[in-house]
Amino acid sequence: MVKSGNYSRKYSKEWDKEDGLREWVSRVPGDDTKAACRYCRTVIRAHRADLKVHSLAKKHKKNAELSTITGLFAAFPYGDKGREHTVDKDKADMKGEGDERALDAAVGEIVNPASVGFIGCGNMAQAMLTAFLKKGLVNPSLTIASAPSDRNLGKLRELGVRTTQDNNDVVISSDLVFVCVKPHQLTSMLGDLPPLGNHSPLFVSVVTGVSLGHLETMLCSLVENPRVVRAMPNTPSAVGQGCCLYALGTHTTPSDAETTSSLLSALGMSAQIPEYQIDAACGLSGSGPAYIYMAIEALADGGVKMGLPRQLAQTLAAQTVKGAGAMVLETGKHPGQLKDEVCSPGGTTIAAVHTLEQNSFRNSLISAVEASALRSKELGAKE
Ligand SMILES: NC(=O)c1ccc[n+]([C@@H]2O[C@H](COP(=O)([O-])OP(=O)(O)OC[C@H]3O[C@@H](n4cnc5c(N)ncnc54)[C@H](OP(=O)(O)O)[C@@H]3O)[C@@H](O)[C@H]2O)c1
Repeated sequence: MVKSGNYSRKYSKEWDKEDGLREWVSRVPGDDTKAACRYCRTVIRAHRADLKVHSLAKKHKKNAELSTITGLFAAFPYGDKGREHTVDKDKADMKGEGDERALDAAVGEIVNPASVGFIGCGNMAQAMLTAFLKKGLVNPSLTIASAPSDRNLGKLRELGVRTTQDNNDVVISSDLVFVCVKPHQLTSMLGDLPPLGNHSPLFVSVVTGVSLGHLETMLCSLVENPRVVRAMPNTPSAVGQGCCLYALGTHTTPSDAETTSSLLSALGMSAQIPEYQIDAACGLSGSGPAYIYMAIEALADGGVKMGLPRQLAQTLAAQTVKGAGAMVLETGKHPGQLKDEVCSPGGTTIAAVHTLEQNSFRNSLISAVEASALRSKELGAKE
């Protein structure tokens, strides 16, 4: 496989036929991972998305015009090495020129890795994959997932995703590998993988408790300077309403950060945080959906007890949780203030709030977050 830094795809013959590219793009003799611009006399990464961004850059358009007017087609790149050029310069060049939408479209392509793999395809992997597929961020035919049994693989095949029982198939054919196994399965799973040679995918681990340092140490036996991201997603990602916090490893690049942010934001909200906060994020948003499902179930039970039909009670409970969450997010008000606003003096709600306080409602939730976060730390310490 031809390799240049973290990039391993070759110049494609297809670009010689594509409008907007064929006029200026050409091969760089001796380096299939680069392409040359005849107008700008520059050499850029041979990635279709980078080439598209370049074709939209102001400077390129000016050079193209000039070449047409003067009729001059520089001898470059044949025999001439040309200046190295990065797509970031083109992106900066396009800003403020009314081309933002085209830029976004082209950048969207760059930050989405061509081939994505999943090792482990249970609840969390399926939730993430569903979101990526819904948003068109990954191509199912370029996506591959592995697991030891067919228990979950069949569901992924129905989505058009390639499946295998060999984790190495996933690693060698992906630019980005999501590691989605349980903490106790991780060490033996990684230990069974052979060294990868020149291929160096970005690893995004969602494994609870396992630190970046530990992941990097384990992955060192596969690849030099492994590029690793540690993420804490949650399952509402499947409906685009998830939360995903992540921390970047030592060897990740700015482009890895862009890729990670672009993919993970498709899950709902996502944010980069310092690694020491990940266990707390596990306690709150990683495990949180379970607490809220229990709350919805209990609220619905209360409704049924007081005479509502089950289905209506469940819908009311879920919609009430959704609505209250939206109020907090959209008004920006403190939840305590929103609570006060619905407690009229001597009214029904304050009576219920008192009952919740008597039954340690807030204390229970604080303790739940704490218990999950401590368990996450404990799982990490075991690895
Ligand atoms: N679920 C959540 O809400 C959540 C939230 C945040 C983080 N996480 C973390 O995400 C990870 C996955 O959780 P999950 O809920 O998706 O677990 P899960 O539903 O049990 O899925 C685990 C997957 O790993 C596969 N697997 C087991 N051993 C393997 C091996 N040696 N090689 C490759 N695949 C293997 C399983 O295969 P089979 O299909 O054959 O059983 C299954 O597909 C965990 O570390 C968890 O802590 C989960």
